[in-house]
Amino acid sequence: MNTLSPYTFVLFGATGDLSLRKVLPALFRAFCTGQLEAGAHTDTAGRILAVARTPMDAAGYHAWCEQHVRAHIKPDVWDEPTWKRFLATIDYMPLDLGREAEFRVLAERLAKRQGVRIFYLATGPSLFIPICEGLRSAGLNENSRIVLEKPLGNDLASSEGINDAVGAIFREDQIYRIDHYLGKEAVQNLLALRFGNAIFEPLWRRELIDSIQITIAEAIGVEGRGEFYEQTGALRDMVQNHLLQLLAIVAMEPPLSMNADAVRDEKLRVLRSLRQMDDESVAHNVVRGQYGGGAIDKSAVPAYVDEPGVPPDSQTETFVALKAEIDNWRWAGVPFYLRTGKRLGERVAEIVVNYRATPYPLLGEATAQPGANRLVIRLQPNESIRLYCLAKQPGEGMNLQTVHLDLAFDQFFKGHRMDAYERLLLDVINGRLALFVRRDEQEQAWRWVAPIQAYWARQAKGPKRYAAGTWGPPAASALLAQSGRCWVEEEN
Ligand code: BG6
Repeated sequence: MNTLSPYTFVLFGATGDLSLRKVLPALFRAFCTGQLEAGAHTDTAGRILAVARTPMDAAGYHAWCEQHVRAHIKPDVWDEPTWKRFLATIDYMPLDLGREAEFRVLAERLAKRQGVRIFYLATGPSLFIPICEGLRSAGLNENSRIVLEKPLGNDLASSEGINDAVGAIFREDQIYRIDHYLGKEAVQNLLALRFGNAIFEPLWRRELIDSIQITIAEAIGVEGRGEFYEQTGALRDMVQNHLLQLLAIVAMEPPLSMNADAVRDEKLRVLRSLRQMDDESVAHNVVRGQYGGGAIDKSAVPAYVDEPGVPPDSQTETFVALKAEIDNWRWAGVPFYLRTGKRLGERVAEIVVNYRATPYPLLGEATAQPGANRLVIRLQPNESIRLYCLAKQPGEGMNLQTVHLDLAFDQFFKGHRMDAYERLLLDVINGRLALFVRRDEQEQAWRWVAPIQAYWARQAKGPKRYAAGTWGPPAASALLAQSGRCWVEEEN
């Protein structure tokens, strides 16, 4: 087991939704497998310091965790004695961000502890700057790392504002911008597939690839986050970050090394090569939708506008499908279709690489069918990588049928499986930046979505409706049909 250097993990926003759903359960999982152990000489009490506005003591916070966090820990990980030991590592401190003196109290508490200080900002972005300034006023910006959650701003200008302010206090190599999709096992495996094997490299280019589809579909709605989502929408919540990061990983050139900046340089080059849209291409290549009422798993679910916190005339999009093009030597002419939405037919996230048909149908029409040759990287559920190709059916004649070669990870690898947050939190503690988004990447992604935001802001007509439980508005199908293509689930 890797022994960590001493650290203190300070969790701002410790009573918020993100902390209880993601951060604390991930820390607990890492704790269960002994991955949070630091060098023997450090005490564990207070290794995690939870910070929020609510006045209470550590015992009160532990009771709060019992009530709110437990439910988010999977039964296969749950273990009562371990949970008690985990709680014993958590201390609590109430802090009013408006009072500089309280940051000095925080500094005094941290002064007693050895090692690096990690400040995890599980708060709304409007608090990033006040927290960073408070930390600086108490001299806490040295020997420390800061973790920022998305959304980082809501457009290019606001994100530059936050980055400037945070950047005046912390160096770029102290800043960890989380995009949890980069921590998913299948994304790591895509890198292993591409750069650990020579056989895929010649297949990874425009001469052989017809198109690429990247889908992050969710069956859930906004889950009580209506007020947050109203200010966000699918373009900011998913496209600007998760989908563009996946696209960058798929399309990047082999980096010079796996060093953080070498990897991020290559992702940035892809983002810079994305063809910038104008009004006409937004109108033609981007579809936005909003879910109406419908059924998921045969149960009725409400329309987005009937969710708590959402006004009845909301124009916020819960679905986006778009066609992106990369103007570089490797990808010119290959459409990348990206799509994401809430309340869709099922929960699935995958990258589908469609290969071109054979030059002519020597063995019949089956060779021209969509999906005859295809690589599917499934991120969730049941992560796997699957290569589809045609094979002859046994018996008389040359009848072809699709078969697949499977890399189903759970068959090959047994034992503990890390989730994305767990991996990323351990990376922060270990000082590994490769899976975090650098400022220039993040701003380039905002720059690319800006014409879409601007175009939508000028339209009187809002998103198109789609029934919950479907795959989005019909316009999303029409987007591919223009060029004779269709989404994977439409093939059968
Ligand atoms: C978050 C979004 O970043 O990702 C949520 O804010 C979304 O709206 C979530 O539900 C999806 O993540 P995952 O890992 O469940 O696919």
